[in-house]
Amino acid sequence: MQNTKRISSDLIYVGASDRRLHLFENVYPIPFGVSYNAYVLLDEKAVLLDTCDKEVTGAFLENLRYALNGRPLDALIVNHMEPDHAANIARVLDLYPDAEVYLTLAASKMLQQFFGAAYAPRLHTVKEGDSLNTGRHTLKFIAAPMVHWPEVMVTFDETDGVLFSADAFGTFGALNGSLFADEEEISRFEWDEMRRYYANIVGKYGVQVQNLLKKASALPIRMICPLHGPIWRENLSALLEKYDLWSRWQGEEGVVIFCASIYGNTLSAMERLAALLNEKGVKHVRLYDLSAQDPSFMLAEAFRAKAAVFASASYNAGVFIKMEELLHDLKAHDYKNHVVAYVENGTWAPSAAKTMKGILEGQALTVAGETLTIRSVLSDEAPLCALADALKEAIL
Ligand SMILES: Cc1cc2nc3c(=O)[nH]c(=O)nc-3n(C[C@H](O)[C@H](O)[C@H](O)COP(=O)(O)O)c2cc1C
Ligand SMILES: [Fe+2]
Ligand SMILES: [Fe+2]
Repeated sequence: MQNTKRISSDLIYVGASDRRLHLFENVYPIPFGVSYNAYVLLDEKAVLLDTCDKEVTGAFLENLRYALNGRPLDALIVNHMEPDHAANIARVLDLYPDAEVYLTLAASKMLQQFFGAAYAPRLHTVKEGDSLNTGRHTLKFIAAPMVHWPEVMVTFDETDGVLFSADAFGTFGALNGSLFADEEEISRFEWDEMRRYYANIVGKYGVQVQNLLKKASALPIRMICPLHGPIWRENLSALLEKYDLWSRWQGEEGVVIFCASIYGNTLSAMERLAALLNEKGVKHVRLYDLSAQDPSFMLAEAFRAKAAVFASASYNAGVFIKMEELLHDLKAHDYKNHVVAYVENGTWAPSAAKTMKGILEGQALTVAGETLTIRSVLSDEAPLCALADALKEAIL
């Protein structure tokens, strides 16, 4: 059954949600699904902005057919060639033989890699600042390389002030009837999922996101239509503010304690540290046992917190596995500009702290307090108190 949604008088949502997929990009858990957004603009020209993932092909094509209501499709704008948005390009071009494609040069090469050279005559490469007039609307193309892949562009409808932002400003989570972010108050959970999407998918490319934000700040944006998650038409400043913080690797609040513990003694000390932080008035303290968590959530928590405590058992002259994984993941996402502290535990030759620091070496981080070395069990609270004080002061 068609499930299109009208966004404005001539803009229609033709995307679809997947509630069955277990892992996005075959690695990130999405317990609440994901939406693949696509949009049809019905002007003198009928324009489709991006397609959808192969898992929602049926729903997407039905929506597209319904939105076009018998009209031919004149143009397809490809903002991003990743298969979660590009999988159905060939299907669309075969079904709608009049459709001409507008995309960057890099995207044109990728399209031909994925679907063959036969479509080449229908591809029109566009550059930063080029535009497409569709009748009443003028669509301007803006390069956004590495906001997620190198070929990415975003499209700005100058007539109505709508930014089609590709993966930027997207989030995990299927749509639940409503299409607009303002139809429900954005809960902590929703910001958390948005941050998890940002950190894992785009987090490494903060510099490129900053470039896009700079370009966006010069545009009279009234609405943001991303490729995943709800559309933003109110409170855009809150969204842009979060993106500005995240893309500068600026923590938002509080302290996160990441603990990798074999027998539980390091964890027991960190329970006490969390309590001491709370007693000292530090808000937004969260403690995680890394063995019980999915790494994508931990990466997002590292982006959120102003300070992170890395507490780990020593393991074969190194650091316990889950902590090693987290630190490599942080480094891969260029984690920096945060406050960090190190706690290690060892029974004969503590090695965790040296290994942890080695992995994060070269990242611009501020270390709070002294490295705390626990020998099997911590019985003296004084070093935890000192660490709590140092953390509190560092995030003020
Ligand atoms: C496979 C394995 C390797 C370990 N390697 C080291 C080591 O290299 N150096 C050390 O001091 N302790 C080592 N340990 C011991 C633990 O790090 C130590 O008992 C620590 O106190 C455990 O803290 P926890 O109670 O938080 O798990 C190892 C333990 C295991 C199971
Ligand atoms: Fe992408
Ligand atoms: Fe995507």
